[in-house]
Amino acid sequence: MSTTDLPTSIDDTAARLLALDYVPERALATTVFLALKLQRPLFLEGEPGTGKTEIAKTLAAMLGRPLIRLQCHEGLDLAGAAYEWNYARQMLEIRMAEGSGAQRDELARQLFSDRFLIRRALLQAIDPAQPVPPVLLIDELDRADEPFEAFLLEVLSDFQITIPEYGTVKAVQPPIVVLTSNRTREIHDAVKRRCLYHWVGFPDTKREAEILARRVPGAPQKLAAEIVAFVQKLRAIELYKLPGIAETIEWTRALMELDALVLDPETINHTLGVLLKYQDDIAKVQGSEAARLLAQLRSEAQPGR
Ligand SMILES: Nc1ncnc2c1ncn2[C@@H]1O[C@H](COP(=O)(O)OP(=O)(O)OP(=O)(O)O)[C@@H](O)[C@H]1O
Ligand SMILES: [Mg+2]
Repeated sequence: MSTTDLPTSIDDTAARLLALDYVPERALATTVFLALKLQRPLFLEGEPGTGKTEIAKTLAAMLGRPLIRLQCHEGLDLAGAAYEWNYARQMLEIRMAEGSGAQRDELARQLFSDRFLIRRALLQAIDPAQPVPPVLLIDELDRADEPFEAFLLEVLSDFQITIPEYGTVKAVQPPIVVLTSNRTREIHDAVKRRCLYHWVGFPDTKREAEILARRVPGAPQKLAAEIVAFVQKLRAIELYKLPGIAETIEWTRALMELDALVLDPETINHTLGVLLKYQDDIAKVQGSEAARLLAQLRSEAQPGR
C-alpha cells in the first residue's frame, strides 16, 4: 500500500474527499484538514446516518492507509480493545518448562514476550512495526461503558500504550484517529480535550442532493429532487428518530426498484419503513401527513402557480 501526502489546504481536503464521493461541509473539511496537520484525533458527534463512520473509511482510501476499526460496545475492556495475554499458550509453555526444569525467572520473562501478546485494534494501530501509520476508527464510543474512556487517554495524547508486564509500545508515526459518538451519553471532557471536535448534523437540501447524485447516480432527476425535499420536510416534524442520509439513499434505491419517476402518496405510504424505523413515527406520517408534505413540496417546486 502506498501512502499519499496529506492535503495542503482546506480546499484540497474538500476536493479530495469529494473525489471519493464524500460531500463535506466546509466546517468538516476545515476540521479534517486541521486534525491531519496538527496530528490530533478527530471527534465526530452527530445524528445517525450522517457520514461519521464514512469519513474514516474515506480518509483511509484518500491517504492510502489501512483502516483499523474498533467497534465499541457495552462491556468493551482493555482485553477487547488493546491487548491480552494468550493464557492458553502461556499455560502450555509452563507445562513444557516444568518438564525441562527451566529457570523460573527466565520462564516469567518469556511468558510476557511478543509471542504471547494478542494485539487488538488499539495496539495494532500504534504498533511501531506497522509500515504505514493507519487510520484508527474508534466507532460509537458512547456505546462503551464510561470507564473504558480512561484507557483511551494515553493512546489519544501520546499514541502509546503501557503494558505493565511488557513495557510501553509507542507509534513511530502517529495513526490518524477518528472517534465517533451518537451522543446517547456525554463523552468525558478528558477525551474530548485531546481531540478536535465537529458536530455532524443533517445536510441542507443542496448538499443532500449532491450526496444523492454521487451515491445513486442513476436516479431520475425529478424523483431525486422530490425525495430530498420530502426527507428535508420530514426532518422538521417532531419524530422519535429522524431519517439520516443513509435512509435517503436507501429510499432512493427502493423507489428506483419500484420504477418510480416521481413521488406519489401511495408509494410513500408503502415504503415509509425504509425511512422510519419506529411504528409511532410511521403512524404519524402515513396518510394525511405524507400527502400534506408532498403537496407542500410540489407547490414550492412551482412558485409561479
Ligand atoms: N457527506 C456525505 N457524503 C457522501 N455520502 C455520505 C455522506 N454522509 C453520509 N453518506 C452516506 O450515508 C451512509 C451512512 O453514513 P455513515 O455510516 O457514515 O453514518 P454514521 O454517521 O456513521 O451513522 P451511525 O451513527 O448510524 O453509525 C454512508 O455509507 C454514505 O453512503
Ligand atoms: Mg457509524
